[in-house]
Amino acid sequence: MKIAVIEGPNLNMLGIRERSIYGAMTLSAIHDGMKKIAEQNGVEVEFHQSNIEGELIDRIQECYGESEAIVLNAAAYSHTSIALRDAIAAVSVPTIEVHLSNTAQREEFRHKSLITAVCAGVIAGFGPFSYHLAMIAAIQIARETEARKNAAKAPPNE
Ligand code: DQA
Repeated sequence: MKIAVIEGPNLNMLGIRERSIYGAMTLSAIHDGMKKIAEQNGVEVEFHQSNIEGELIDRIQECYGESEAIVLNAAAYSHTSIALRDAIAAVSVPTIEVHLSNTAQREEFRHKSLITAVCAGVIAGFGPFSYHLAMIAAIQIARETEARKNAAKAPPNE
């Protein structure tokens, strides 16, 4: 079972960037915590961060038929990118939208996410712990997806 973690622009700057909002933890430290959760649950996890919208779209498309769930912090593109939204809808891999900050408490332009409607759910406002919660949700959803796939493959009961 595979979970893809995809992160958008400026998240490579965590630990340096606006620490009063995003905290002091680096992205690789957050990933270490997620790897532990994945290991404990026997799932594979792959990480990809990019500052480039098209690369994020390519990565989402690669998840088609490959990953059972996606954990996505699209960062600023959450508020602007119809193309990302369309990519999530295209692959129909259950996607959990994540934000470190509580975007509803921040500037008005962050209140609207263009991707929420095509995501399975949103976790925001818990700092690095948002990712951990998202990982737990992703594992649960991935298990359900896999169980459905296996049931569809199984021969019908007599
Ligand atoms: C963010 C919130 C976005 O509004 C912002 O553009 C980010 C990070 C978060 O994790 O809180 O880059 O996605």
